[in-house]
Amino acid sequence: METPKRFSNMREHSSGRTLDISHYIFPGIQPHIYSWTRIYGKNFVYWHGPKAKLVVSEPELIRELMNHRDISNSRGEVEEFMKRILGDGILTSEGAKWLKLRKLSNHAFHAESLRNMIPAMVESVENMLKGWRHYDGKEIEVTEELRNLASEVISKTAFGSSYLEGKQIFETFQKFMIIVGRNAYKIRLPVISHIFKSNDDRESERLEKGVRDSIIKISNKREKLQITGGEPESSGDFLGLLLKAYHDPNLKNKISIEEIIDECKAFYIAGHSPISDFLSWTVLFLSIHTDWQDKARKEVLEIFGDNIPNAEGISRLKTMSMIINESLRLYPPVIFTERKAEKETRIRKLILPANTDIQIPILAIHHDPKIWGENAHLFKPERFQEGIAGATNSNSAAVLPFGRGARACVGLNFTYIEAKITLSIILQHYAFTLSPTYMHSPVHIMSLTPQTGIQLCKKAIRRWACGNRRGEMVEATEAGYPGIPCRELKGNGSSNYRKRGK
Ligand code: HEM
Repeated sequence: METPKRFSNMREHSSGRTLDISHYIFPGIQPHIYSWTRIYGKNFVYWHGPKAKLVVSEPELIRELMNHRDISNSRGEVEEFMKRILGDGILTSEGAKWLKLRKLSNHAFHAESLRNMIPAMVESVENMLKGWRHYDGKEIEVTEELRNLASEVISKTAFGSSYLEGKQIFETFQKFMIIVGRNAYKIRLPVISHIFKSNDDRESERLEKGVRDSIIKISNKREKLQITGGEPESSGDFLGLLLKAYHDPNLKNKISIEEIIDECKAFYIAGHSPISDFLSWTVLFLSIHTDWQDKARKEVLEIFGDNIPNAEGISRLKTMSMIINESLRLYPPVIFTERKAEKETRIRKLILPANTDIQIPILAIHHDPKIWGENAHLFKPERFQEGIAGATNSNSAAVLPFGRGARACVGLNFTYIEAKITLSIILQHYAFTLSPTYMHSPVHIMSLTPQTGIQLCKKAIRRWACGNRRGEMVEATEAGYPGIPCRELKGNGSSNYRKRGK
């Protein structure tokens, strides 16, 4: 039997080691799943303390599991520290409560609402790039930049608040995630762990209180605005909907203050960390594969020229969709998801006893050579030329970055829109390559993240005109950056600008 101690050791040995830039990351990120799959096959059971977990990595079986009436709406058992920070919101709840929260979230992130969020997203990306001008001629670390961007976007679009208001919440979450990561594979003894509190227990309680206080402050401020009639434009956003539900006279729809707090926590947490990691990995790919950077830029310029990205154009970015899909396949920010068989369930030859936790190892599936071929670990966006169905032989459960079924990610369309806007505007303004100082060390903390950030060398291919969107184009020079040892820029796309005679 495999023991938790043994797999905790396996992870400690492999996590965070600096690798050459190889995308063969599955054995290093989840060594226990990797070696047990090799020994026991694609579907196996392992013990996490007193709990058995069934790991299923066969796409056909996953499709059936995730669509099954008694499994699809459930969530597997949530790790103790995660539960502490998330409370009982949409990410962790079950049954009627989850359904009520899910309906609210779907409503806040439906197509029309997303369309209305585009200007706020564009504004945030432009603000970020204005800051980048200070790095002209210098190396820039983009992971932190993209983290701040994702935080600002979710703060503005979902909570109608500024980045600064949300900043404290995000900083606290980051500290919390370190504790979650440290304890992820430790077994907690049910009664004893509640009597004898560890330093991490005490610290996490303190952090949770900090987040709670900040959320209450933001909600109270909005409530006051509603009472004084000074409701902001964003009153139809997620927080606005939560407050409306709080005042709903219909008890079936009404939610409590605790539910508001837990929902806000869920969206602050789900809405910023995976998206900034995903954007970081995508920028890394583009900085290495400058041929794809060129193709993506060409497409962006054909569709938007030097104008602001819009909803109609976003849906036509085919090359960018291929790049995004391949990035999410190789580095899925969420590396596994879970379900639970609520009652005894039979699926094919499997008989699952009631309350069996089922783990779907997303990273393992995305790196499986039987599905993706011997070059599974290589960046090849052309796999997605014919969309996801084409890439997977119509076996859509082979691509699961956002999960699947009733509990699939609420933020899928939000993520695609934010990513396409961000990448389009970056490509309109900059050509970039990877800095030689970059060290490849993917680690799994809460999502799959570049441990030491991503350092780029960039050069402006469009001059910013103060406050004016129609910036003037300038030819990129071939000189590189004075004073920093950047790799040579190959095919940086500046030719597209020259051709257009700007
Ligand atoms: C690259 C970005 C993202 C990735 C890779 C991602 C991935 C995932 C995954 C794998 C799940 C579990 C799905 C399942 O079990 O079937 C999930 C759930 C969820 N995600 Fe995301 N997510 C991302 C961005 C977002 C954003 C931006 C938001 C909010 C705006 C969000 C909100 C949620 C919520 C609320 C759930 C829980 C849904 C439920 O249990 O009903 N996610 N996400």
